[in-house]
Amino acid sequence: MCGIIGAIQKKGEVAPFIHQALKRLEYRGYDSVGVTTIADNELYMKKDKGKIDQVHKKLDLDDLPGSTGIGHTRWATHGIPSMLNSHPHFDCSNEIAVVHNGVIDNFMELRRELKKKGHQFESETDTEVIPHMIEDYMKNGYSLEEAVKEVALIIEGTYAVVAMCTKEPGKIVVTRDGNPLVIGKKENAVYVSSDIPAFLPMTDNMVLLLDGEIAVLTVDDIEIEKLSDGERVDRDAIKISWTADQAQKSGYPHFMLKEIHEQPDAIRNTLRLRDEEIEKAAKMIDNAERVFLLAMGTSGHAALAGRHMFASLGGVLATSELASDFADTVYDTITKSDLVVAITQSGETTDTITAVKSARQQGAKVLAITNVVGSSITRIADHTLITQAGPEIGVAATKTFMVQLTSLAQIALKLGEISGKPGTDELEKKRESLHGLPDIVSRVIATEEEHARQIAGLFYDSPSMLFLGRGISMATAFEGALKLKEIAYNHAEGYSAGESKHGPIALVQDGFPVFFVAPRDDTRSRIIGNIMEMKARGASIISVIEEGDDELLELSDHSFAIPKGVEPEFTTMAYVVPLQLVSYYMATRKGYDPDKPRNLAKSVTVL
Ligand code: F6R
Repeated sequence: MCGIIGAIQKKGEVAPFIHQALKRLEYRGYDSVGVTTIADNELYMKKDKGKIDQVHKKLDLDDLPGSTGIGHTRWATHGIPSMLNSHPHFDCSNEIAVVHNGVIDNFMELRRELKKKGHQFESETDTEVIPHMIEDYMKNGYSLEEAVKEVALIIEGTYAVVAMCTKEPGKIVVTRDGNPLVIGKKENAVYVSSDIPAFLPMTDNMVLLLDGEIAVLTVDDIEIEKLSDGERVDRDAIKISWTADQAQKSGYPHFMLKEIHEQPDAIRNTLRLRDEEIEKAAKMIDNAERVFLLAMGTSGHAALAGRHMFASLGGVLATSELASDFADTVYDTITKSDLVVAITQSGETTDTITAVKSARQQGAKVLAITNVVGSSITRIADHTLITQAGPEIGVAATKTFMVQLTSLAQIALKLGEISGKPGTDELEKKRESLHGLPDIVSRVIATEEEHARQIAGLFYDSPSMLFLGRGISMATAFEGALKLKEIAYNHAEGYSAGESKHGPIALVQDGFPVFFVAPRDDTRSRIIGNIMEMKARGASIISVIEEGDDELLELSDHSFAIPKGVEPEFTTMAYVVPLQLVSYYMATRKGYDPDKPRNLAKSVTVL
């Protein structure tokens, strides 16, 4: 949440780069934007509420002098979106500028003390205490670095902070605790950002900054030390395998559509994960007394599907838990014999990180599945599988969901191998099916995209819809409903088809849209029963079925056909695709930007 960027160039004006970097970070928040640079020992600033393009049109964000600068695109927590609440924030004399991502829990008390000392505040944000505190320390002879260090030890909560000061031009000081920051380095320039795509067109050399560390950046040097004891940290740069092209729309109208189309490759690349990595993950599961899959949102739906895969292929009972509620439910029972499997595309979701940390405190082992190298979860986990979706820019997760499912399927197959239960031939058949999924997903996109656009045109103004499935298809149905509500803003409820007659059926009347996820698996005959119940009450049935399933075709008002050859454990990966496309086309039909749904952000770093 909130995108932050800082950059120092040896020469040339930095503002146009900061503006473009913010565009690449806009998926992290988009209610206001600001850029500040230093030139001739003065701060130059432009900021306002609104999306980056709107603010740029009004203020020209490229037109700021100087080769050192910082920028911010905001997802509001403290204070409404407004010009004054936009970052960067400044001290009383406009010498210090700060951008921040996170939440400062003790800001009220700090603000009161600062006001007593005569500091003038302009915004309602928690962030603004930081430049004023830095100002106090610098007045007492501290350098910017020393001042930021002192402030970091006083503020409570989570933060990634980037600060600069006119008294020390050509320098940016950064620190983090609980919110991401990565440093990019190339000859004659240094960058710092909350996410890699911001500086990817300039460099693929990344230096990680960990929680509790502070870094001083100049164009020639990156000095990192620990906040706790000042110990110097020597950390090599690592090469990022993502390319700048992957973070472009490449001719697609939206990132979301591009990312839906990238799913076959994302699966293919994830299937290339090293066997030893998968085996290590499977052994951790096999050795654990109990296995908890922890995740939020779409990743939670991957967890639900993973639970089915583990049970069906590996004979392992895992429970899938909302990370946000973990501490309030099973936490007290966790022991060192348990394993938590954290599934998080960003690797930064605070709900998930907090739950995992608490499980660790109880002694549990941690396996992580994430798409981001060096993200917070990778540093907490005993073992991490890095999925290979490449950068996902659309806020609504699509290809990262697909690769989470892919790696869960790989682990499930390995569990099957370890247990020996499914038998070699059976396992081989399943493996072939999994490896056939990239082609199947390509075919689904090729044959069903136009159809999804038409269905979207028929139902986009329905105020409410149901998405039903049984067994693993519940995860598919939940995901279909989530995609729809988050980007098209129609009310949609994902439900167990079995449970639907115990309440939700009361919503159904003539023309009420009910989506059924109905692969040809063991649930099919019961799903037919549920379709009949809904039809009897006038529902419009839209089903996702296997190609050639004439009986279901006949029972449905509309249907999407998925090629044969998808084993029951992997149906989510193929059957969710038409639902992603329907949501996309409903959102665009209604004139919404599916890449930037209102009130949401790509990584949710608040509790
Ligand atoms: C939905 C979506 C969110 C995320 C959730 C968890 O499209 O993207 O529901 O799935 O915020 O995020 P990660 O996977 O980064 O932990």
